[in-house]
Amino acid sequence: MGSYESALTKNYHPKTATLYSAVLEDGDYHSKKDRFTSFFLSLLTPFPEKMQINRAFAQEMYKQYAREQFENYLDLGAGPMPRGHEWAPGGRFLYVDHNPQIVEHARKKLREADHATYEAASVGDVPKLFESGVAQRAFDGERKLAICSNAVLMFVSDEHIRNTFSYLYDWAAPGSAVMITMTGVTSKENALGAGFIRSFFKWIDAPMYVRNIGTFQSLFAPWTMVRGPIPTWQWIGWPPSRQTAGVGFDIYAMRLEKKADARPTPGKPTGERPR
Ligand SMILES: C[S@@+](CC[C@H](N)C(=O)[O-])C[C@H]1O[C@@H](n2cnc3c(N)ncnc32)[C@H](O)[C@@H]1O
Repeated sequence: MGSYESALTKNYHPKTATLYSAVLEDGDYHSKKDRFTSFFLSLLTPFPEKMQINRAFAQEMYKQYAREQFENYLDLGAGPMPRGHEWAPGGRFLYVDHNPQIVEHARKKLREADHATYEAASVGDVPKLFESGVAQRAFDGERKLAICSNAVLMFVSDEHIRNTFSYLYDWAAPGSAVMITMTGVTSKENALGAGFIRSFFKWIDAPMYVRNIGTFQSLFAPWTMVRGPIPTWQWIGWPPSRQTAGVGFDIYAMRLEKKADARPTPGKPTGERPR
């Protein structure tokens, strides 16, 4: 067991993954009960369409990275059926999820030819995971990273996001990029609607942070936001529908980069490949 696993929280909420796959009828990780709950949600909310949009984004994200000839992919909160290695074949993949059962389930399906490593660690544990040498091995010593996190960071605290993304900025080579989707609101975080959304997700046992989209850039500093945050449906060119457009609560997509001419942080790793 790697030392980074010692900090693994037992506080994971399996429904954050199972409702997603149940509503998409994808994979074999969810139960009949999840299918029933997701059906119930689909009667009340635009949940199915949002999840279809999210899945389409994940595919587009990997394909876009592949077009840009990235080779090393870090996927945070990769879930029970990661597909990066199918959408960007030929790359090296480090999948991370904090739920060990999800990791065990997904590992069984990975083949050697996928060049994929799947580790149980929370987003907040990524620095420890990297210090353990896992990333060095998974990426064969390369540090130019394509970082992915699709529909995950709304379940992660500000502190863990900040620490991990600032660590990754120092670790990664200039030219590295981050693509993210996460829930956000355009209203104030203490507005009635935002509170209602928080209570609803707590009630279905998938508690989430409902943040104002104006706070996103600061969470990922010093990465530079180069696109977004914009609603994910807009990002991928999904036709607006009455349920998805203009309601102020959405899953937002963004891209951040460590610019090719970025200077190293004094006293921190340069992000260059060690010689
Ligand atoms: C909605 S699913 C998305 C899965 C995958 N990214 C996809 O697009 O199919 C959210 C995933 O985030 C994981 N997750 C939630 N909080 C996490 C944390 N703090 N650290 C790592 N993974 C986390 C859950 O276990 C779950 O697999």
